[in-house]
Amino acid sequence: MSVRVGVAGLGHWGPNLARNFAELADLTWLCDSDGSKRESAAARYPGARWTDSFDEMLADAELDAVVVATPVPTHFELARRALEAGKHVLVEKPPAMKGHEMDELVALADERDLTLMPGHLLLYHPAVQKLKEMIDAGELGDVLCVYGNRQNLGIIRSNENALWSLGVHDLSVILHLLDEEPEHGVALGRDFLNEGVEDVVFCYLRFPSGKIAHMHLSWLDPHKMRKMTVVGTEKMVVFDDMELERKVTVYEKGPWKPAERYGEWQTRTGDIFSPHLPNDEPLKLECRHFLSLVAGEGDRTKVAHDGARVVRTLDLLTSSLDGS
Ligand SMILES: NC(=O)c1ccc[n+]([C@@H]2O[C@H](COP(=O)([O-])OP(=O)(O)OC[C@H]3O[C@@H](n4cnc5c(N)ncnc54)[C@H](O)[C@@H]3O)[C@@H](O)[C@H]2O)c1
Repeated sequence: MSVRVGVAGLGHWGPNLARNFAELADLTWLCDSDGSKRESAAARYPGARWTDSFDEMLADAELDAVVVATPVPTHFELARRALEAGKHVLVEKPPAMKGHEMDELVALADERDLTLMPGHLLLYHPAVQKLKEMIDAGELGDVLCVYGNRQNLGIIRSNENALWSLGVHDLSVILHLLDEEPEHGVALGRDFLNEGVEDVVFCYLRFPSGKIAHMHLSWLDPHKMRKMTVVGTEKMVVFDDMELERKVTVYEKGPWKPAERYGEWQTRTGDIFSPHLPNDEPLKLECRHFLSLVAGEGDRTKVAHDGARVVRTLDLLTSSLDGS
């Protein structure tokens, strides 16, 4: 039987989620506290009921799952209420703004055997999936370090800093690729334009395995960059989301120690190539994954626990940023 889904928050992003769930599942509710959103959303999905009350939607015992696409400060409270009402939850990133709040959501989901999935869209990007596949297959050798660049001139935000607004994307990818939680994290940033809202943030992470990572996050930059670089002992890989065709470039480059020159490191350079990537829509893959977890396929606890690592790390970086 098709999963019955309700979408809360029909601003800019929510309609994309509604479109996918209307196609992949049974979209039974649309909810936005702003009644003016009703006209366009309700007309498109005549089979779905409309409400401006989140609680009215939750009261429907037939509803299986809730999608939360409201502003970030509301995520924790809405996700908590939905889990308490026994609904599976797909909540936009980040699901909470404090590590302990996210831990509370995860505990609730575990206790009730419900799916709690943060909407980390980039994890469903075919390029990120390729990177993960290569790392897990050992193709890069030992991964030594990863760094992300997410820079542009604008959009200048006034309520969410560059760490939370931009960093959540790169952090979700870095932690997914390395499958570790950092033991040490430091962020340095400055609020040049709006007091208390950092426009430029540099972050450093160190993991228990010894790997290190860096993120440069900024909306005050001449470069438009969305790039992730992974350095391994056998190969190095770059995911450049600004590229149209060559999103992933593999460099057969690395360090090596020739036996005849004892103790001396040299470098090796081989082919440079771009693997073919499938043309799948990441959001569709994300929605499909959520529905399969709701249906009981796969490990539904993993997405929640992985999401908690991201929030805890953002929290860790924020505490050092506050002191910078
Ligand atoms: N994954 C992605 O790539 C991606 C992209 C864009 C936005 N987002 C996320 O989606 C979320 C929404 O972003 P947006 O740009 O659509 O914001 P938005 O402000 O355009 O829309 C939010 C909507 O939520 C409604 N809302 C607020 N409180 C509500 C409540 N308690 N109950 C019901 N409705 C409520 C508002 O009326 C508004 O229509 C954010 O968390 C954002 O980070 C994710």
